[in-house]
Order: sequence, then C-alpha cells, then structure tokens
Amino acid sequence: MTGAAPPRLLDAKGRIKRKLRVSLTDRCNLRCHYCMPEHPTWLPRAQLMDNAELQRLVGLFVRTLGITELRLTGGEPLLRPDVPELVRMLAALRSEGLQRIALTSNGVRLAPVAAALRDAGLDDLNISIDAITPETFTALTRGQLAPVLEGIASAKAAGLPIKLNCVVIKNANEAEVLPLTQWAKARGLPLRFIEFMPLDARKSWSSEKVVSEDEIVALLSSHYQLKPLPRASDPAQYYSVDEDYRIGVISTISKPFCASCDRLRLDARGQLYTCLFSATATDLLTPLRAGASDAELLALIRTAVWHKPAGYAEQPGYVERPITMHHLGG
Ligand code: GTP
Ligand code: 5AD
Ligand code: SF4
Repeated sequence: MTGAAPPRLLDAKGRIKRKLRVSLTDRCNLRCHYCMPEHPTWLPRAQLMDNAELQRLVGLFVRTLGITELRLTGGEPLLRPDVPELVRMLAALRSEGLQRIALTSNGVRLAPVAAALRDAGLDDLNISIDAITPETFTALTRGQLAPVLEGIASAKAAGLPIKLNCVVIKNANEAEVLPLTQWAKARGLPLRFIEFMPLDARKSWSSEKVVSEDEIVALLSSHYQLKPLPRASDPAQYYSVDEDYRIGVISTISKPFCASCDRLRLDARGQLYTCLFSATATDLLTPLRAGASDAELLALIRTAVWHKPAGYAEQPGYVERPITMHHLGG
C-alpha cells in the first residue's frame, strides 16, 4: 500500500505553490523612497491578524495545501514585538510538513533579537542593504547604516544564515554595486542585486531607472570574472565571482521568472495576493473572524490560487493596486 499523495496547491497554469510570504505589519522604521509613500498612514492594529489568526491560516496552507516554506515580511517585521514567540508557534508546523521559516528584514532592530530568533527556530534571514557608503544609505532610506551592520554581525554571530538584498536604481546607488560586492565578498556574505520593480508607493518607477541584470554584470565585470551558474530555486540568477564568491541578480524586469512562480502572499490584514503584481486580493480574515470553517477557508484559497494571473511576464509595467510594496513585503 502506498501512503496518501502529498497535498498540492495548483493554479490553472500548472504552477504548484510551495512558498508563502506573510507580512506581519505594514509599518516600517525606514523610508526607502522606492518603497514607502512620503507620508505613510498605517493600518489600524485591529485590522491586523493576531498570532492565533495567523497561526490558523498558515496551518491550513501547510497542513492541507502543501506549503513547505514560510517567509515573514513587513513593512519591517521586527517592529512587531513578539516575532520570536510567533516563530516558535509556527515552528510547531514542522511536524505537519513545514520545512523552512525565513524572514526578510531591514536589519535595524535585528541585533538585540538575532539569538532569540535562532532559538525560536528561524532558519534564515534576508537583510536589505542598498548601499555600503553611509551617506548614500541615508539618502536612500532616511536611516542609519550602523545598526544594520550591527544586525548583520549579530545574525552571523548567532549562526543564522543570511543573504543581503540590494535594489539597484539608476542615478541613486549604481555606484554602490562594486563597493558593496567588495565588502560582502571580503566577509563571505551572500549578496543579491534586485532590479527596481514598478511597485513603489510614489509611482516614481520608470524603465529608465531600472539597472538591468546585464548592466549589473557589466559593472562588476570591470573588476571581476563573472560566470553564470545553473539556475537555483530562489528568484536570483547566480554568477560566480573570481571562482571564490558568487552574487545573485533578481531580474523581474529584464528576465521575468513567472512561468515557474511557486509563491503566494498574505498581507498583514489576511488578504491573499496570488501574485506580487495582483490588482485584487481575497480576504481571508473577515470570513475567519465571522466563524468560517476550515473547509470554507480552504475553498476560498483554492479558488483564488486557481485564478492566479500569469504575472509580470505577461503584463509588464505599472499595475494599479490597492496596496504598495510596504504593505505586501516584496
Ligand atoms: P528566498 O529566495 O526564499 O531566499 O527569498 P526571496 O528572495 O524570495 O525573498 P526576499 O524577501 O529577499 O525578496 C527579494 C526580492 O525578490 C524582493 O525584491 C522581492 O520583491 C522579490 N521577489 C520575491 N518573490 C518574488 C516573486 O515571486 N516574484 C517577483 N517578481 N519578485 C519576487
Ligand atoms: N523593487 C524591487 N525590490 C523592492 N523591494 C522593495 N521595493 C522594491 C521595488 N520596488 C525589496 C526590498 C527588500 C525586499 C523585500 O523587497 O529592498 O529587500
Ligand atoms: Fe510570481 Fe507574479 Fe512575481 Fe511573476 S510577477 S514571479 S507570477 S509573483
């Protein structure tokens, strides 16, 4: 006799979902101009999922729908005071199929909680760092670089695997690509560059501001020998750098990877976005609070996922959406 087949969550294009990104809050302590509106208004706390609600929804995704990887995002997720406790709660889902709990942070508040996050069961962390020159970092984020560097050092000391993310924007931080690579390479820290995507709250994106994968590779090729590596399962294309290091480039704009998309997103209000560029979402929290059964919630999720749009590859450019990047967490 064979056991039951593992659960699968499929869209109409045959893409199986394995990863769920959950935004814990829309709040942030930085003001990256490519992400935040000039004067952000935050969602009222009563509208946000509490830990028990989040645990119930995530449990359905893992137990019944085959999601194996979770990524906690924001805003800045560490502005929620109870993240280690939440990670500990979610880690209980490992016995039901969960394989990874990751987090994406700006690193500012990381240093004091890095060890607690590791102890709670966090597997790894992605940290945003858009410049290694303090003045450029401040111009981009309106924050300070020093606490982020401290956060990176603390995560490393706690034994948490980390990857660094840098969004590259023309005439803003292109000049950081080489020094940031030199800095990260000298410390053996994995680094990925990200093409600027049209999701910013100020609608300031234009194709001229995108520094493409090919341009990033060209910027680095003046100093290093880069060779493309076979495609892995994360959204980055990796390149070996002088044989002893590698960098990644996430090229949504110049080389979209929608055909193999295995992700879903839940915002902090329990709204399910099936694509980063979706113009609509499915509200899961209102029915949950109104007493919906697991079967009713599962039906809502399956229907939404089945209708997942093709993605950026088929509809490039700006999408008018009810929310922007700081709500959805990338
Ligand atoms: P892992 O690969 O699991 O480590 O995480 P990740 O790279 O998906 O997560 P992270 O939060 O570090 O995101 C890095 C960048 O990739 C951000 O700019 C995200 O918006 C972008 N990104 C993540 N997932 C997707 C996706 O499905 N589609 C697109 N177009 N971009 C994505
Ligand atoms: N384009 C590309 N990446 C972005 N991020 C935020 N806004 C954008 C955008 N418009 C990145 C952040 C962080 C990750 C979650 O998403 O810098 O690294
Ligand atoms: Fe997936 Fe949408 Fe990103 Fe394409 S644009 S990779 S479909 S989330």
